[in-house]
Amino acid sequence: MTPRFPLAVLPTPLVRADRLRAALGCGPLWLKRDDLTGFGVAGNKVRALEYLLGDALARGCDVLVTGGGPDSNFVAAAAQAARVAGLDCELVVWGDVRGTTNLALATAAGARIHALGSDDRGRVDGEVDRLGAELAAAGRRPLAVPRGGSTPVGALGFAGAAAEVVAQWGGSDAPTVVLPVGSGGSVAGLLAGLAGTGWRVLGASVSRPPDEITAKVLGLAGETAALAGTASPRPEQLTIVDARGPGFGVASPADRAAADLVLGTEGVLLDDTYGAKAAAVAVEHRTDGPALLWLTGGLVSALTHVSEVPGYSPEVRSHTTEGAP
Ligand SMILES: Cc1ncc(COP(=O)(O)O)c(C=O)c1O
Repeated sequence: MTPRFPLAVLPTPLVRADRLRAALGCGPLWLKRDDLTGFGVAGNKVRALEYLLGDALARGCDVLVTGGGPDSNFVAAAAQAARVAGLDCELVVWGDVRGTTNLALATAAGARIHALGSDDRGRVDGEVDRLGAELAAAGRRPLAVPRGGSTPVGALGFAGAAAEVVAQWGGSDAPTVVLPVGSGGSVAGLLAGLAGTGWRVLGASVSRPPDEITAKVLGLAGETAALAGTASPRPEQLTIVDARGPGFGVASPADRAAADLVLGTEGVLLDDTYGAKAAAVAVEHRTDGPALLWLTGGLVSALTHVSEVPGYSPEVRSHTTEGAP
Protein backbone atom coordinates (compact mmCIF):
# COMPACT_ATOMS: atom_id res chain seq x y z
CA MET A 1 0.00 0.00 0.00
CA THR A 2 1.32 3.44 -0.92
CA PRO A 3 1.69 5.52 2.25
CA ARG A 4 0.12 8.95 2.43
CA PHE A 5 2.10 11.91 3.76
CA PRO A 6 -0.72 14.06 5.22
CA LEU A 7 -0.70 17.71 4.15
CA ALA A 8 -4.26 18.75 3.33
CA VAL A 9 -7.14 19.72 5.60
CA LEU A 10 -9.73 17.11 4.64
CA PRO A 11 -12.53 16.69 3.88
CA THR A 12 -12.85 19.88 1.85
CA PRO A 13 -16.32 21.44 2.10
CA LEU A 14 -19.16 20.29 -0.15
CA VAL A 15 -21.58 23.20 -0.35
CA ARG A 16 -24.91 23.80 -2.05
CA ALA A 17 -24.77 26.52 -4.69
CA ASP A 18 -28.42 27.61 -4.63
CA ARG A 19 -27.84 31.13 -5.95
CA LEU A 20 -25.87 29.80 -8.91
CA ARG A 21 -28.54 27.18 -9.48
CA ALA A 22 -31.28 29.85 -9.46
CA ALA A 23 -29.31 31.98 -11.93
CA LEU A 24 -28.89 29.02 -14.28
CA GLY A 25 -32.36 27.52 -13.82
CA CYS A 26 -30.88 24.04 -13.60
CA GLY A 27 -31.11 21.05 -11.25
CA PRO A 28 -29.54 20.90 -7.77
CA LEU A 29 -25.97 22.17 -7.81
CA TRP A 30 -23.07 21.74 -5.38
CA LEU A 31 -19.51 23.04 -5.21
CA LYS A 32 -16.68 20.80 -3.96
CA ARG A 33 -14.25 23.29 -2.47
CA ASP A 34 -10.82 21.87 -3.30
CA ASP A 35 -9.72 25.48 -3.59
CA LEU A 36 -9.72 25.15 0.24
CA THR A 37 -7.39 22.16 0.68
CA GLY A 38 -5.50 24.13 3.29
CA PHE A 39 -1.86 23.50 2.34
CA GLY A 40 -0.12 26.50 0.81
CA VAL A 41 -2.30 27.59 -2.09
CA ALA A 42 -2.04 24.18 -3.67
CA GLY A 43 -5.71 23.46 -4.50
CA ASN A 44 -6.35 19.98 -5.91
CA LYS A 45 -2.66 19.24 -6.40
CA VAL A 46 -1.98 18.65 -2.73
CA ARG A 47 -4.01 15.44 -2.93
CA ALA A 48 -1.54 13.99 -5.47
CA LEU A 49 1.45 15.31 -3.56
CA GLU A 50 0.40 13.54 -0.35
CA TYR A 51 0.91 10.20 -2.11
CA LEU A 52 3.91 11.24 -4.20
CA LEU A 53 5.76 12.40 -1.07
CA GLY A 54 4.58 9.37 0.92
CA ASP A 55 6.05 7.18 -1.82
CA ALA A 56 9.27 9.24 -1.96
CA LEU A 57 9.80 8.93 1.79
CA ALA A 58 9.05 5.19 1.76
CA ARG A 59 11.68 4.75 -0.95
CA GLY A 60 14.24 6.78 0.99
CA CYS A 61 14.40 9.54 -1.64
CA ASP A 62 16.10 12.82 -0.79
CA VAL A 63 15.13 14.99 -3.76
CA LEU A 64 11.90 15.50 -5.71
CA VAL A 65 12.45 16.27 -9.39
CA THR A 66 9.47 17.50 -11.37
CA GLY A 67 8.38 20.34 -13.61
CA GLY A 68 5.72 22.39 -15.32
CA GLY A 69 4.96 25.84 -16.69
CA PRO A 70 5.93 29.22 -15.24
CA ASP A 71 2.39 29.72 -13.92
CA SER A 72 2.01 26.15 -12.69
CA ASN A 73 0.22 25.63 -9.39
CA PHE A 74 1.74 22.17 -9.25
CA VAL A 75 5.37 23.33 -9.23
CA ALA A 76 4.75 25.74 -6.34
CA ALA A 77 2.82 23.09 -4.42
CA ALA A 78 5.46 20.43 -5.13
CA ALA A 79 8.22 22.70 -3.83
CA GLN A 80 6.30 23.44 -0.64
CA ALA A 81 5.37 19.80 -0.07
CA ALA A 82 8.95 18.62 -0.67
CA ARG A 83 10.22 21.21 1.78
CA VAL A 84 7.95 20.16 4.63
CA ALA A 85 8.74 16.49 3.93
CA GLY A 86 12.47 17.28 4.24
CA LEU A 87 13.33 16.70 0.57
CA ASP A 88 15.11 19.01 -1.83
CA CYS A 89 13.22 19.99 -4.96
CA GLU A 90 14.47 20.54 -8.52
CA LEU A 91 12.02 21.94 -11.06
CA VAL A 92 12.23 21.96 -14.86
CA VAL A 93 10.16 24.89 -16.14
CA TRP A 94 9.15 25.69 -19.71
CA GLY A 95 8.50 29.21 -21.03
CA ASP A 96 9.44 32.54 -19.55
CA VAL A 97 10.55 31.89 -15.97
CA ARG A 98 10.92 35.53 -14.94
CA GLY A 99 8.77 36.89 -12.16
CA THR A 100 5.74 34.65 -11.79
CA THR A 101 4.10 34.28 -8.41
CA ASN A 102 4.08 30.48 -8.47
CA LEU A 103 7.81 30.34 -9.25
CA ALA A 104 8.47 32.87 -6.50
CA LEU A 105 6.60 30.60 -4.08
CA ALA A 106 8.60 27.60 -5.29
CA THR A 107 11.84 29.51 -4.85
CA ALA A 108 10.75 30.66 -1.39
CA ALA A 109 10.32 26.99 -0.53
CA GLY A 110 13.94 26.39 -1.54
CA ALA A 111 13.38 24.76 -4.94
CA ARG A 112 15.93 25.16 -7.71
CA ILE A 113 14.50 26.21 -11.07
CA HIS A 114 15.95 24.79 -14.29
CA ALA A 115 14.71 26.87 -17.22
CA LEU A 116 14.01 24.75 -20.29
CA GLY A 117 14.56 27.85 -22.41
CA SER A 118 11.71 26.89 -24.72
CA ASP A 119 7.91 26.97 -24.90
CA ASP A 120 7.82 23.28 -25.78
CA ARG A 121 5.86 21.85 -22.80
CA GLY A 122 6.21 18.34 -24.21
CA ARG A 123 9.96 18.36 -23.47
CA VAL A 124 9.59 18.86 -19.71
CA ASP A 125 9.05 15.22 -18.71
CA GLY A 126 12.09 14.01 -20.69
CA GLU A 127 14.20 16.69 -19.05
CA VAL A 128 12.87 15.72 -15.60
CA ASP A 129 13.99 12.13 -16.21
CA ARG A 130 17.37 13.29 -17.51
CA LEU A 131 17.91 15.51 -14.46
CA GLY A 132 16.83 12.67 -12.17
CA ALA A 133 19.38 10.32 -13.77
CA GLU A 134 22.08 12.99 -13.45
CA LEU A 135 21.32 13.43 -9.74
CA ALA A 136 21.32 9.65 -9.19
CA ALA A 137 24.72 9.41 -10.89
CA ALA A 138 25.95 12.06 -8.44
CA GLY A 139 24.86 9.89 -5.49
CA ARG A 140 21.48 11.48 -4.74
CA ARG A 141 18.21 9.52 -4.35
CA PRO A 142 15.78 11.32 -6.64
CA LEU A 143 12.10 10.69 -7.29
CA ALA A 144 11.33 11.95 -10.81
CA VAL A 145 7.67 12.86 -11.33
CA PRO A 146 6.13 14.01 -14.62
CA ARG A 147 4.28 17.33 -15.04
CA GLY A 148 1.18 17.66 -12.89
CA GLY A 149 2.11 14.66 -10.74
CA SER A 150 -0.13 12.54 -12.95
CA THR A 151 1.16 9.06 -12.21
CA PRO A 152 -0.84 6.15 -10.73
CA VAL A 153 0.64 7.01 -7.31
CA GLY A 154 -0.34 10.68 -7.65
CA ALA A 155 -3.82 9.73 -8.87
CA LEU A 156 -4.42 7.84 -5.60
CA GLY A 157 -5.08 11.30 -4.14
CA PHE A 158 -8.21 11.76 -6.21
CA ALA A 159 -9.28 8.15 -5.74
CA GLY A 160 -9.38 9.11 -2.06
CA ALA A 161 -11.25 12.30 -2.96
CA ALA A 162 -13.91 10.16 -4.67
CA ALA A 163 -14.50 8.19 -1.46
CA GLU A 164 -14.55 11.47 0.48
CA VAL A 165 -17.22 13.11 -1.68
CA VAL A 166 -19.40 9.98 -1.92
CA ALA A 167 -19.45 9.86 1.90
CA GLN A 168 -20.37 13.58 2.05
CA TRP A 169 -23.08 13.15 -0.57
CA GLY A 170 -25.10 10.53 1.27
CA GLY A 171 -27.80 8.51 -0.46
CA SER A 172 -29.51 10.97 -2.81
CA ASP A 173 -29.45 10.67 -6.64
CA ALA A 174 -25.94 10.28 -8.07
CA PRO A 175 -24.71 13.55 -9.60
CA THR A 176 -22.56 14.47 -12.58
CA VAL A 177 -19.19 15.83 -11.44
CA VAL A 178 -17.75 18.59 -13.62
CA LEU A 179 -14.03 19.33 -13.28
CA PRO A 180 -11.13 20.77 -15.27
CA VAL A 181 -8.66 18.35 -16.85
CA GLY A 182 -5.03 19.27 -17.47
CA SER A 183 -2.50 16.46 -17.22
CA GLY A 184 -5.38 14.12 -16.27
CA GLY A 185 -4.28 12.69 -12.92
CA SER A 186 -7.13 14.21 -10.94
CA VAL A 187 -9.93 12.99 -13.21
CA ALA A 188 -8.23 9.57 -13.56
CA GLY A 189 -8.14 9.11 -9.79
CA LEU A 190 -11.74 10.26 -9.51
CA LEU A 191 -12.88 7.79 -12.15
CA ALA A 192 -11.01 4.98 -10.43
CA GLY A 193 -12.55 5.89 -7.08
CA LEU A 194 -16.07 6.19 -8.49
CA ALA A 195 -16.17 2.73 -10.09
CA GLY A 196 -19.15 0.89 -8.68
CA THR A 197 -21.19 4.07 -8.16
CA GLY A 198 -23.76 5.60 -10.49
CA TRP A 199 -21.85 8.88 -10.62
CA ARG A 200 -20.87 10.43 -13.93
CA VAL A 201 -17.78 12.54 -14.61
CA LEU A 202 -17.68 15.39 -17.14
CA GLY A 203 -14.15 16.66 -17.72
CA ALA A 204 -13.26 20.01 -19.31
CA SER A 205 -10.00 19.48 -21.17
CA VAL A 206 -7.96 22.69 -21.06
CA SER A 207 -4.79 21.64 -22.86
CA ARG A 208 -5.22 18.52 -25.01
CA PRO A 209 -7.74 17.31 -27.62
CA PRO A 210 -10.47 15.24 -25.92
CA ASP A 211 -9.59 11.95 -27.69
CA GLU A 212 -5.95 12.17 -26.67
CA ILE A 213 -6.60 13.05 -23.03
CA THR A 214 -9.46 10.53 -22.70
CA ALA A 215 -7.13 7.70 -23.76
CA LYS A 216 -4.51 8.89 -21.27
CA VAL A 217 -7.06 9.22 -18.44
CA LEU A 218 -8.56 5.76 -19.00
CA GLY A 219 -5.10 4.17 -19.00
CA LEU A 220 -4.08 6.02 -15.86
CA ALA A 221 -7.39 5.25 -14.11
CA GLY A 222 -6.86 1.53 -14.80
CA GLU A 223 -3.32 1.62 -13.39
CA THR A 224 -4.53 3.57 -10.36
CA ALA A 225 -7.28 1.06 -9.60
CA ALA A 226 -4.78 -1.79 -9.98
CA LEU A 227 -2.42 -0.06 -7.55
CA ALA A 228 -5.23 0.57 -5.06
CA GLY A 229 -6.62 -2.95 -5.52
CA THR A 230 -10.09 -1.60 -6.37
CA ALA A 231 -12.63 -2.36 -9.12
CA SER A 232 -11.73 -1.54 -12.73
CA PRO A 233 -12.88 1.93 -13.84
CA ARG A 234 -15.89 2.08 -16.16
CA PRO A 235 -15.20 4.20 -19.25
CA GLU A 236 -18.92 4.87 -19.74
CA GLN A 237 -18.91 6.99 -16.57
CA LEU A 238 -16.53 9.47 -18.23
CA THR A 239 -17.02 12.17 -20.86
CA ILE A 240 -14.29 14.68 -21.64
CA VAL A 241 -15.15 17.71 -23.77
CA ASP A 242 -12.92 20.26 -25.47
CA ALA A 243 -12.61 23.36 -23.27
CA ARG A 244 -9.37 24.73 -24.77
CA GLY A 245 -11.14 27.70 -26.38
CA PRO A 246 -8.75 30.44 -27.49
CA GLY A 247 -5.75 28.67 -25.91
CA PHE A 248 -4.09 27.48 -22.70
CA GLY A 249 -4.73 30.00 -19.94
CA VAL A 250 -6.87 32.23 -22.17
CA ALA A 251 -10.57 32.49 -21.36
CA SER A 252 -13.27 32.74 -24.05
CA PRO A 253 -16.20 35.15 -23.52
CA ALA A 254 -18.28 32.16 -22.35
CA ASP A 255 -15.55 31.15 -19.86
CA ARG A 256 -15.44 34.69 -18.49
CA ALA A 257 -19.23 34.91 -18.25
CA ALA A 258 -19.31 31.64 -16.29
CA ALA A 259 -16.53 32.81 -13.96
CA ASP A 260 -18.34 36.13 -13.41
CA LEU A 261 -21.51 34.24 -12.54
CA VAL A 262 -19.74 32.01 -9.98
CA LEU A 263 -18.10 35.08 -8.43
CA GLY A 264 -21.34 37.05 -8.41
CA THR A 265 -23.55 34.28 -6.99
CA GLU A 266 -21.26 32.23 -4.74
CA GLY A 267 -18.35 34.61 -4.12
CA VAL A 268 -15.65 32.32 -5.49
CA LEU A 269 -12.90 33.72 -7.73
CA LEU A 270 -11.93 31.31 -10.54
CA ASP A 271 -8.75 31.29 -12.61
CA ASP A 272 -8.87 31.49 -16.41
CA THR A 273 -6.77 28.35 -16.99
CA TYR A 274 -8.90 25.79 -15.15
CA GLY A 275 -11.79 27.14 -13.08
CA ALA A 276 -13.43 29.42 -15.65
CA LYS A 277 -13.31 26.70 -18.31
CA ALA A 278 -14.82 24.04 -16.06
CA ALA A 279 -17.53 26.49 -14.98
CA ALA A 280 -18.36 27.22 -18.65
CA VAL A 281 -18.70 23.49 -19.32
CA ALA A 282 -20.96 23.13 -16.26
CA VAL A 283 -23.12 25.98 -17.59
CA GLU A 284 -23.26 24.63 -21.14
CA HIS A 285 -24.09 21.07 -20.07
CA ARG A 286 -26.54 21.88 -17.27
CA THR A 287 -29.58 19.65 -16.90
CA ASP A 288 -32.42 19.16 -14.43
CA GLY A 289 -30.37 16.46 -12.67
CA PRO A 290 -27.95 16.98 -9.75
CA ALA A 291 -24.48 18.28 -10.59
CA LEU A 292 -21.34 19.05 -8.67
CA LEU A 293 -18.74 21.53 -9.88
CA TRP A 294 -15.33 20.55 -8.48
CA LEU A 295 -13.35 23.73 -7.74
CA THR A 296 -9.66 22.88 -7.98
CA GLY A 297 -7.91 26.07 -6.87
CA GLY A 298 -5.71 28.16 -9.12
CA LEU A 299 -6.01 31.11 -6.76
CA VAL A 300 -2.43 32.32 -7.33
CA SER A 301 -3.01 32.70 -11.04
CA ALA A 302 -6.53 34.09 -10.51
CA LEU A 303 -5.21 36.84 -8.22
CA THR A 304 -2.21 37.54 -10.43
CA HIS A 305 -4.43 38.19 -13.45
CA VAL A 306 -7.64 39.51 -11.93
CA SER A 307 -6.84 43.17 -12.61
CA GLU A 308 -6.34 42.36 -16.33
CA VAL A 309 -9.90 41.02 -16.69
CA PRO A 310 -11.91 43.42 -18.87
CA GLY A 311 -14.36 45.29 -16.67
CA TYR A 312 -12.57 44.45 -13.41
CA SER A 313 -10.43 47.62 -13.27
CA PRO A 314 -11.92 50.06 -10.78
CA GLU A 315 -13.49 53.16 -12.24
CA VAL A 316 -11.80 55.90 -10.23
CA ARG A 317 -13.99 58.84 -9.26
CA SER A 318 -12.45 61.96 -7.80
CA HIS A 319 -13.23 62.38 -4.15
CA THR A 320 -12.46 65.28 -1.92
CA THR A 321 -12.94 65.93 1.74
CA GLU A 322 -12.36 69.64 1.26
CA GLY A 323 -14.87 71.64 3.23
CA ALA A 324 -15.97 68.67 5.28
CA PRO A 325 -16.38 69.38 8.99
C1 LIG B 1 -5.96 24.67 -10.33
C2 LIG B 1 -5.86 23.42 -11.13
N1 LIG B 1 -6.98 22.81 -11.50
C3 LIG B 1 -6.98 21.70 -12.25
C4 LIG B 1 -5.79 21.13 -12.66
C5 LIG B 1 -5.83 19.91 -13.51
O1 LIG B 1 -5.48 18.77 -12.82
P1 LIG B 1 -4.83 17.56 -13.60
O2 LIG B 1 -3.50 18.05 -14.12
O3 LIG B 1 -4.69 16.51 -12.57
O4 LIG B 1 -5.73 17.20 -14.71
C6 LIG B 1 -4.58 21.73 -12.28
C7 LIG B 1 -3.29 21.18 -12.73
O5 LIG B 1 -2.25 21.69 -12.46
C8 LIG B 1 -4.62 22.89 -11.49
O6 LIG B 1 -3.48 23.51 -11.10
